[in-house]
Amino acid sequence: MTNVILLGPPGAGKGTQAKTLSERTSLTHVASGDLFRAALREGTELGMLAKSYMDRGELVPNEVVIRMILERIAQPDCGAGVIFDGFPRTREQATALEAAMGEHHNQIDAVLYLRVPRDVLLRRIAGRQTCKTCGATYNIYYFPSHRPGICDACRGKLYQRSDDSIETAEHRLDVYFEQTMPLIEYYQRQELLHEIDGQREISLVTEAMLHALKINPELTAPPKE
Ligand code: AP5
Repeated sequence: MTNVILLGPPGAGKGTQAKTLSERTSLTHVASGDLFRAALREGTELGMLAKSYMDRGELVPNEVVIRMILERIAQPDCGAGVIFDGFPRTREQATALEAAMGEHHNQIDAVLYLRVPRDVLLRRIAGRQTCKTCGATYNIYYFPSHRPGICDACRGKLYQRSDDSIETAEHRLDVYFEQTMPLIEYYQRQELLHEIDGQREISLVTEAMLHALKINPELTAPPKE
C-alpha cells in the first residue's frame, strides 16, 4: 500500500496529476476541494459552509476538513492506498492525518511538492475551465477544448470556478504561502519530500512523479489512443 500527498499552490497541477496517477496506479484520488464542490452540488450543509470560505479564498476550518477526509479514507476503495490532493494544508491537518493512519498501522510514504512560479499559477487559474458533467479540466491558454465552452469528452458545459477570479486567486495564493508552505519543511524533516518542477509539460511532470515514487512509467503506460 502506498499513500502519497500532492502538495503545491493553487493552480500547480495537483488535480491534473492526481487524476492521471490514479488512472495509472491502484491508488484512489481523494481531493478535498472536489469533495466540498460535490457536497455543494448535493445542497448539503457541509457544502454551503465550505462555499462561504471557498468563495473568499479562505481555508475551511480544520475540524470540518479533517472529519470529512477521515470519513472518506475509511471507505473500502481507499484500502489499496490514496493520493491526497489539497489535504493536508495546515500543520493541524497533517498531524490529524498521521494520527489516524497510525491507528491503522498505516503511514504517508511520499510527499510530492509541485513547484510553479506565481505568475504562471495565476495564468493557469485564470484560464482554467471545468466540465460541469464529467469534471474534465481544460485551459483556454494551454489546451482549450475543441469547441469553445463544450467538453471534448462528454459535450458537457464548461464553467469557470467561482473562486478562480483574479482577486480570489491572489488571496488563495497568499493563504497558501502563509498556512501551507510550512508543511514543505515539515515533510522535508521527515525525509518524505520530493520536489517536482511543475512548470514542465503535463506528461513530463507525471513521469517525474512516477520516478519519485519509484514506479516504472513503462509498467503503467497510458492506453494508446
Ligand atoms: P482546491 O479545489 O483544493 O483548490 P487548490 O488547492 O486551490 O488547487 P486548484 O484546484 O486551484 O489547482 P490544482 O493544483 O489542482 O491545479 P489543476 O490541476 O486544476 O481548494 C479550493 C478551496 O477549497 C480552498 O481555497 C479552500 O477554501 C477549500 N479547501 C480545500 N482543501 C482544503 C483543506 N485541506 N483545508 C481547508 N480548506 C480547504 O491545474 C490548474 C490549471 O492549469 C488547469 O487549467 C490545468 O489544465 C492547467 N495545468 C495543469 N498542469 C499544467 C501544466 N503542467 N502545464 C500547463 N497547464 C497546466
